[in-house]
Formats: sequence, C-alpha cells, structure tokens
Amino acid sequence: MKRLTVPAIQRRKVEGKTEEPLVMLTAYTARQAQILDPHCDILLVGDSLGQVIYGLPSTLPVTLDMMIAHGAAVVRGSYHSVVVVDLPFGSYEQSPEQAFATASRVMAETGCAAVKLEGGAVMAETIEFLSRRGIPVMAHVGLTPQAVNALGGYAARGRSQEEHAKILADGAAVAEAGAFAVVVEGVIEEIAIALTQSVEIPTIGIGGSARCDGQVLVTEDMLGMFERVPRFVKRYADLAGMISDTVAKYAEEVRARTFPGPEQTYQPK
Ligand code: KIV
Ligand code: NA
Repeated sequence: MKRLTVPAIQRRKVEGKTEEPLVMLTAYTARQAQILDPHCDILLVGDSLGQVIYGLPSTLPVTLDMMIAHGAAVVRGSYHSVVVVDLPFGSYEQSPEQAFATASRVMAETGCAAVKLEGGAVMAETIEFLSRRGIPVMAHVGLTPQAVNALGGYAARGRSQEEHAKILADGAAVAEAGAFAVVVEGVIEEIAIALTQSVEIPTIGIGGSARCDGQVLVTEDMLGMFERVPRFVKRYADLAGMISDTVAKYAEEVRARTFPGPEQTYQPK
C-alpha cells in the first residue's frame, strides 16, 4: 500500500463536507506506529509525549531533539499513514524564519510529511511562509496546551462570546494562510460546527464534538494507559490494568521459581 499524502488528506473534504471522517491518533514509537498505522489516516507525533513518555508536567519542556527522535521512529514504523510531527514550544513562535529552520530540520531528519504548530491568527504569517516553501502545516486552535500558562489551565474554550469569536477567527486565519488541516481542541460543540462549516480544510476534533471532519486522541489515553484523562477521552481498553495483571503473574512465577520452565530453558542437543 502506498503512503497517503497531504493533498489526499485535504481532498477528503469536498465542498465543505467530509464523507468519511479522518482517523488520527498519536504515536511516539516505531512498534506503536506499526500497530496503529493500518487503521489510521494520520499519525501524530504529538508533544504530548512530554507527559505520556517522559513524565513531564506539561508540554513546555519538550525539546526538538525529542520530537525528532520519536518522529523518525514513527516514520520507520509506518508505511500507510501521513506522519505529522508537532513543533515543540519555543522552536517556532519567534518568526517565520525560526519556524522554517525548525520545521525543515524536523522534516529532513524524520522523513515526516508535515508539521503541526499551535496558534491561530498570530501564526498565520508563519503558516503561509512554511506552506509556500514546501512544508505542509497542520494548525491547532482552541485549547492549545503550549499556552497553558496564559490560558490558566486545560478547561474547555469558547464559553464566552469573546473567546467564541476569537477561536472562529483563528480557524479562519489558519485556513486562509494555507494550513492543510486544523486540530480543534477542547471547544464547545457550536464552535466545532461553525468552524467545520466555514473552512475549506478538514477540522480534526479532540474534545471538539463529532461534527468535525476527523478525530484525534492520545493513544495512551484511549487505551487506558494514562492515569488522568480529560472528559473528552473515551477509554476503549484498560491496558494499564492488563499490563499490571500480566506483570503480577510474571513476578509471582519468578518468586515461585516456576518461570523459566523447561520450554524456556536451553539444554545440550
Ligand atoms: O500533542 C498532542 O498529542 C496533540 C494532540 C492531542 C492534538 O497535539
Ligand atoms: Na501537541
């Protein structure tokens, strides 16, 4: 199977409508990517790996080197999905030139097809700069976790008139600037509906209601691997529970000297 392309993703939305919603999940490792890849359209190497993989308190301390190492692993582990890599906090906000230097390194060193950055109207100039120079950009509006200190937390956005209008303006600005898709995180459904109807590019919701053109979740959240999850996460499995039960059994057998058994033990021929 040939790998999907960014234009193919964008073409999934025709005249303001997406027949079949886009499926996106985060991936941070090669093996994880391999397992998810056949089921997804887009794999996102999210800077959420800061909390999920590294135990950091937020995405702010995530470095470009981390994103490149995990991005390259996910590209190696996938053959079908479009791989998008998050630009980490501090690596792109200063200027379009800074963003280009960062994004071109990410693309050259990982082999990913696109980058994602947070911000709406304020990032429009940068999005245009990158997309015109061969770097497809996925934008991210609404609840933008890199701005947690300015937002004051991870609460859903858009409940006031002012915020509502700002998020719609952000979505319009990134679409106008040439983003090929936009993640809409943690917003009330009205906003997701209005944005999805008003922009030409696919909207990908996370806590953005079923009315977006696609959905994304943090894989560890939906698998039940991460302890604290927001309301918008549906837990499809309890992998943490399964792993804990499995490891308890291993520990018990090691302590009882019943593992390794004869099948796992070498003998002379
Ligand atoms: O970092 C991430 O995982 C993300 C998605 C949740 C959209 O940005
Ligand atoms: Na992110």
